[in-house]
Amino acid sequence: MRHLIDIRDLSAQEIADLLDLADDIVANRDQYREVCKYKKLATLFFEPSTRTRLSFEAAMYELGGQVLGFSEAASSSASKGESVADTIRVVGCYADIIAMRHPKEGAPMVGAMHSTVPIINAGDGGHNHPTQTLTDLMTIRREKGRLNDFTIGLCGDLKFGRTVHSLIAALSRYENVKFVLISPEELKVPSYIKKDILAEQGLPYVQTTELTDVMPELDVLYMTRVQRERFFNEEDYLRLKDSYILTPEKLRGAKADLTILHPLPRVNEIDTAIDSDPRACYFRQALNGKFVRMALIMTLLGLTKEGQA
Ligand code: NCD
Repeated sequence: MRHLIDIRDLSAQEIADLLDLADDIVANRDQYREVCKYKKLATLFFEPSTRTRLSFEAAMYELGGQVLGFSEAASSSASKGESVADTIRVVGCYADIIAMRHPKEGAPMVGAMHSTVPIINAGDGGHNHPTQTLTDLMTIRREKGRLNDFTIGLCGDLKFGRTVHSLIAALSRYENVKFVLISPEELKVPSYIKKDILAEQGLPYVQTTELTDVMPELDVLYMTRVQRERFFNEEDYLRLKDSYILTPEKLRGAKADLTILHPLPRVNEIDTAIDSDPRACYFRQALNGKFVRMALIMTLLGLTKEGQA
């Protein structure tokens, strides 16, 4: 049985296979309508979500399966004091696969240790978010035609932004990807990521506080929201929240084929005037999230469009 807790649970080949499958689903939607007939996905969301939960649910419905679950901890027995281990043991009696989001780092891993069905980490605290990374990789591959040889700027809250952590871990696998880490001093990438991933593999990266200075070098710009819910005090959040606002003016120095990504939700980081710029890919990115989650559900359940793998 396979789980997806950390993006590095998948090899580069497995990621390529998943992205190929997602592309095939986009091209041949009708062939996948019954792949998960009689299968059930449980979405256990102990933290708020729009895209991740709904794209998982839409993915399962589009595969002909069914969905059960909860969207806030308050409506689950966690509010009565039930442990993650017990919740997972029980939900495994009702569902074939579980997507779980939790405010505590490591909670999905604990769940996986007690699970009889595959567990997917749909975001754990300020740690990881591997299915957003699959979405990001699918989008970069579709927009750029490759996952190697480019410079990516990651901008905003690189400390608490779990999507950034998983994306760096994934991209560290591909040839000649250069990282430009753009954040306020207080919101830099955690040192374990620099040490265990970037330095460990000798990958080139630059850290800066200035977005406009580095704009001309970037092939991909990954904007992120300042993660208010992970701050200890509101004052710090208010001081840092608008550190970077991408405006048409700031894009003046950018490449004509820049790919602008954002995992969403956006608060203020991207001026809505940019939405109509052909380089803005974030809504296509959200759509890709559904297809890549369809591919992931199929893969973890060992299903193909022809039947059992
Ligand atoms: C992200 C998350 O939950 O980490 N959202 C998402 O899943 N697309 C990013 C965020 O909340 O800022």
